[in-house]
Amino acid sequence: MAYIIDGKKIAQEIRQEVGSEVQKLKRRGIQPHLTVVLVGENPASQVYVRMKGKACEEVGILSGTLTFPDSLTQAELLDVIHDLNDNPEIHGILVQLPLPPHIDENLILETISPDKDVDGFHPINVGKLASGQSDGFVPATPAGVLELLMRTNNPPEGKHVVIVGRSNIVGKPLGLLLLRKQKGGNATVTFCHSRTRNLGSITQKADILVAAIGHAEMIRKEMVKPGAVVIDVGVNRVEDSTRPKGYRLVGDVHFEGVSEVAKAITPVPGGVGPMTIALLLRNTLKASKRDQEKE
Ligand SMILES: NC(=O)c1ccc[n+]([C@@H]2O[C@H](COP(=O)([O-])OP(=O)(O)OC[C@H]3O[C@@H](n4cnc5c(N)ncnc54)[C@H](OP(=O)(O)O)[C@@H]3O)[C@@H](O)[C@H]2O)c1
Repeated sequence: MAYIIDGKKIAQEIRQEVGSEVQKLKRRGIQPHLTVVLVGENPASQVYVRMKGKACEEVGILSGTLTFPDSLTQAELLDVIHDLNDNPEIHGILVQLPLPPHIDENLILETISPDKDVDGFHPINVGKLASGQSDGFVPATPAGVLELLMRTNNPPEGKHVVIVGRSNIVGKPLGLLLLRKQKGGNATVTFCHSRTRNLGSITQKADILVAAIGHAEMIRKEMVKPGAVVIDVGVNRVEDSTRPKGYRLVGDVHFEGVSEVAKAITPVPGGVGPMTIALLLRNTLKASKRDQEKE
C-alpha cells in the first residue's frame, strides 16, 4: 500500500516557516500586505478568497479583499489595479479568477506589476520561469507540488515525470519548474492532454505521475507503474447523498485502486490543496522581502 503524502502537515510546516520570516520582517518595520480583488459572486471564489485571508492572518500577513459587483467594467478594474500597483504599502496583488466574461483576463493579469504578481501569471514571471530565472514568482499550485516531492524525499532529478494537463495554471508551469537546471529540477518531463493518444501507455512509464485534469478518478490503477509517486491536483465534486452537502470531493486519481500500486500518493482533499495556499503565503513573503531589498 502506498505511503499517503500528508499535504496538510507539510503545508503547516511551510506556514510556520513563513510566519517566522514575517515576524523578522515586522521587527524591521515591514508589514507584508496582500490585496485580493474579487469581482462578482462566484461562490467557489468567495470561499477561496476567505481561505486565503484567514491563512494570511494566521501567519501575520496583512490582507484585504476588494470586492466588486459583476457590473464592474474592465476600465474600472484596470484603475483598481493601477492604484494597487502604485501603493507602496501593498506587496502582493491577487485577482481571483475567473473574471466575468466582459473582462479580458489576460489584460488584467498583464496590468498587475510583475513585482506584486504573487500568483505568477504575469508574462514576465512566466518568461522567467520558462528561461530558468529564479527571481520571478512561480504559480502556487505547481510550486506546492514541487515542495510535496522535495519534502517527502522524492526529488524529481533524473526521474521521468508525466504530467496529465497542460493548463497555464498547473500543468505547463509545473513542467517548466521540473525542467529547471537546479535543485528540484532536472526531470525528464512528458506532457499529456486531451489529444494525447494511448494515455495509459504513457502514464505507465512515469516515475512521478501528476494528474491535473479536472475529471473525477480518471487515472486508474492499470495506468500507473508499480512504485510510482502519484500527485493528484484534481478537485472534483461527485454527488453523494450520504454527505450533508450532497456531494464529496475526489481527485483525478482513483485513490483506492492507485494506492495499491503506487509508492506514495496524495489524497484529495488534504494533498495539493493546502499547499497552494501555503505557497501563496510564501510568494507574498517573497514580494515583501524584495520590497525591502529595494530600499
Ligand atoms: N488543489 C489545488 O490547489 C488546485 C489548483 C488549481 C487547479 N486544481 C484542480 O486541478 C484540475 C486541473 O485544473 P486546471 O486549471 O489545470 O484545468 P484546465 O485548465 O481545465 O486543464 C485541464 C487539462 O487537462 C487536460 N485534459 C482534459 N481531459 C483530458 C483527458 N480526457 N485526457 C487527458 N487530458 C485531459 C486538458 O487538455 P487540453 O489542454 O487538450 O484541453 C487540459 O490540459 C481541476 O480539477 C482543478 O480544480 C486544483
